[in-house]
Amino acid sequence: MNGSADRVDGVETMSAAAAADEIPDDATIGVSGFGSVGYPKAVPLALAESGRDLELTIISGGSVGEEIDTALVEADAISRRFPYQARSESRAGANDGTIAFHDRHISRVSDEVALGQLPQPDVALVEAVAVGEDWLVPSLSIGATPAVVEAADKVIVEVNDEIPTELREVHDVYRPDAPPNREPIPLTEPAGRIGGPEIEFDPEKLAAVVRTSRRGTPYQFREPTDRDERIAANLAGFLAEEVEENDVFDEELRLQFGVGNIGNALMGALSDLDVGDRDIVYFGEVVQDGLLDMLDDGIVSAASGTSLALSEDGQEQFFENIDTYAESVVVRPADVSNAPEVIARMGVVGVNSALEVDLYGHANSTHVGGTRVVNGIGGSGDFNRNSLLSVTALPSTAKDGEISRIVPMVPHVDHTEHELGIVVTEHGVADLRGLSPRERADELVSECADPSFRDDLRSYLERAEEAGGHVPHDLDRAFSWTDN
Ligand code: COA
Repeated sequence: MNGSADRVDGVETMSAAAAADEIPDDATIGVSGFGSVGYPKAVPLALAESGRDLELTIISGGSVGEEIDTALVEADAISRRFPYQARSESRAGANDGTIAFHDRHISRVSDEVALGQLPQPDVALVEAVAVGEDWLVPSLSIGATPAVVEAADKVIVEVNDEIPTELREVHDVYRPDAPPNREPIPLTEPAGRIGGPEIEFDPEKLAAVVRTSRRGTPYQFREPTDRDERIAANLAGFLAEEVEENDVFDEELRLQFGVGNIGNALMGALSDLDVGDRDIVYFGEVVQDGLLDMLDDGIVSAASGTSLALSEDGQEQFFENIDTYAESVVVRPADVSNAPEVIARMGVVGVNSALEVDLYGHANSTHVGGTRVVNGIGGSGDFNRNSLLSVTALPSTAKDGEISRIVPMVPHVDHTEHELGIVVTEHGVADLRGLSPRERADELVSECADPSFRDDLRSYLERAEEAGGHVPHDLDRAFSWTDN
């Protein structure tokens, strides 16, 4: 794809190295990017290669690619990071304490930036498909970009010639007003439009425009395994029954799937879902590869998210048919896609994964062993808490069956017993709605735990029940469960 002059309307461009010089050594940078797409590439690489002694704070919408979370980490340039990361180098930095990482609910980041609850961005560094003196059209994701552009002192724009300008057709940029006079977000249909394609800014802020043609490092998903397919089949069976029993689904089923291998596999398996003549609509955070074929086949009629988190192949598929996809796909700011108010209004069935779930329905999505962060909570809290029905789908074991992902007590809590509704593994479906803690434990062991761990979990419960209580525990055994 060739760059054309109309991408850069009435503004001068400069090199990435010159633009990097506009950024102070200890800057807080609000970067665009979500789902490993739509993030700036050339200026972060120029910073990483500059040899400067940098101590940057990076705030993104969601995950970004290796030009930021690998190259800048290897250059020892990131000292603080919000709100999500998904690369091994940034993960290592967070876990060894060299990067002060704080994961935040995705829905909250824009407000936290706008209302001074996070460090204030000196610079907004944004990938765009087109820019003018006081506007830009975002690239493959929107995330927290409108808020960081508004809050930053300077704006630096990377215009990526490899991403089609037609992406403007999918964008719907809307910024909620500041509290306490905030109006309800006027979105009433999943694929409705309440804004426009551009992010506007004060022209005085535009410090640099850089042209690039770097495609970046989007997610690569593994092929769904047999086990993923069994989880998907169990989920599909549950949903098929649920839509028949619950009048709220009479016309339409609105679904969200979380990011990751499981999320992508579940999205792809929707084609086998039998929901009669109901419409299936996607209302979530990331649009992953698994959804594109179903949009093509009319199985899913519309999709709304904050990121086209597509692999390279998925991006090609999207770009080749962008006019058709633009009729049914909408990309919005993350404070709209994940807004508690909007998720609840839409009546979404949210399907997210977790590292482990405990016997009483608490879930750990972020910290292996309770200590080592993987990615961050992302939008899972937004959807688990505010969905009409929250589903946690995960394999029953990790590490070739050596570790049970149904455990007595999670060592780190991201989602509580008050949020989880349904848990699905390759073995079955635990419907926790309306159950007491003891009943939930029984349901989870019988329906979801791997058979090789069921006796141990039951023996844990028996010992715990001797001590009694509403949520019975044997804390010594709970804490030594993983070691054993
Ligand atoms: N103990 C140790 N390791 C575990 C584990 C556990 N209980 N559970 C999973 N793992 C390991 C897996 O073995 C795998 O490691 P590998 O890559 O070396 O094989 C890795 O963690 C990822 O697990 P996987 O089962 O492949 O899941 P995934 O890619 O679907 O990711 C989460 C699962 C929980 C990490 C992911 O869903 C996540 O980051 N969630 C939080 C953010 C979120 O939900 N966003 C959704 C809103 S869009």
